[in-house]
Amino acid sequence: EKGGYEHYMRKEIHEQPEALRQTITGRLDVDAGDVDLDVSFPPGFLADVEEIRVVACGTSYYAGRYAAQLFEELAGVRATVEIASEYEFGAGRTPDRTLVVAVTQSGETADTLGAVRRANEAGARTFAVTNTLGSTVTREVDGTAFIRAGPEIGVAATKTFASQVATLAMLAVSIGRDRGALAAADARAVLEDLQGLPGAVQQVLDKESRVREAAQTYQDSEAFFFVGRALGVPVALEGALKLKEISYDHAEGFAAGELKHGPLALVTPETPVLAVLTEGSRANETMNNVTEAQTRGAPALGCVSADAEYDTLDVDFPVPDVGIVEPLVANVYLQLFAYHVANEKGRPIDKPRNLAKSVTVE
Ligand code: F6R
Repeated sequence: EKGGYEHYMRKEIHEQPEALRQTITGRLDVDAGDVDLDVSFPPGFLADVEEIRVVACGTSYYAGRYAAQLFEELAGVRATVEIASEYEFGAGRTPDRTLVVAVTQSGETADTLGAVRRANEAGARTFAVTNTLGSTVTREVDGTAFIRAGPEIGVAATKTFASQVATLAMLAVSIGRDRGALAAADARAVLEDLQGLPGAVQQVLDKESRVREAAQTYQDSEAFFFVGRALGVPVALEGALKLKEISYDHAEGFAAGELKHGPLALVTPETPVLAVLTEGSRANETMNNVTEAQTRGAPALGCVSADAEYDTLDVDFPVPDVGIVEPLVANVYLQLFAYHVANEKGRPIDKPRNLAKSVTVE
């Protein structure tokens, strides 16, 4: 049941604080700076990994892009992320030292299962991050971590993206600690930020009316651009995907630095730019790129860290101080923006045309 909400998507956006609480419950030992994802690996399974390759599709791929940066930063392991349908193990690599992490909400996405099978054939260690107990992916991998977001009915992934990123952040800490690459004090700081995540998301949800107003103001724009740097890039890409799939408006996300290498030609007063301007997203440099768009007349909307101020933004959405998960909190504003633009236009939000919740063909 929709519990008083007009759409599952809005209900699921609002369930994020609770979903995130479920994701982290019982898994953090903040004082010790440790994580227990209750995965039964053989001893040493993670300790000597030399490379992590994340494979996923769509929104899960963006969660993977967020995670790859965390694996490098927190776990000190080289990490890449690949679109599952494009994944090949590749010659000259070392499968026995590679961990392939499949990120899939449903655990049934054919492209992702195909990538896992290719990784298994090559002899890599495989791991799944999924929402679905007993799903196909869990039977194909060496280990699984469940994101515990609860069932997601809306075709557009929302709360599962948040829980995926939170789970992958815990995995990054766990690997970093196992490998001795992450000091207890640094791990503790990350775990405290994760603990603050449900409350921070709630603060964003409490500002929904502000996002609805912005959606009403800009809904008739020609196109929407989403930009960020570092951890802000996957969030920009996800923001654009969410808007296009449910509103049917043209939206594009990219690394803010790329704006001047081409897309700027499309920027006009009819193309709002939505920017991630938080910790972990190189906000000052991103703001320079936003200013270039504003100079061409584009309205600028920004998700901004609590301790920063960018007076020239047309709309600013405040993001509470939660360190490396601030871009993930900013994403909640982008979800609400997509929802309200689509809702103003009367779109069938929970079942957008041409799309299915689970894509079981390659
Ligand atoms: C977008 C969306 C899709 C899925 C993708 C992968 O809102 O939901 O892009 O993220 O089809 O699905 P899973 O995670 O089930 O493998």
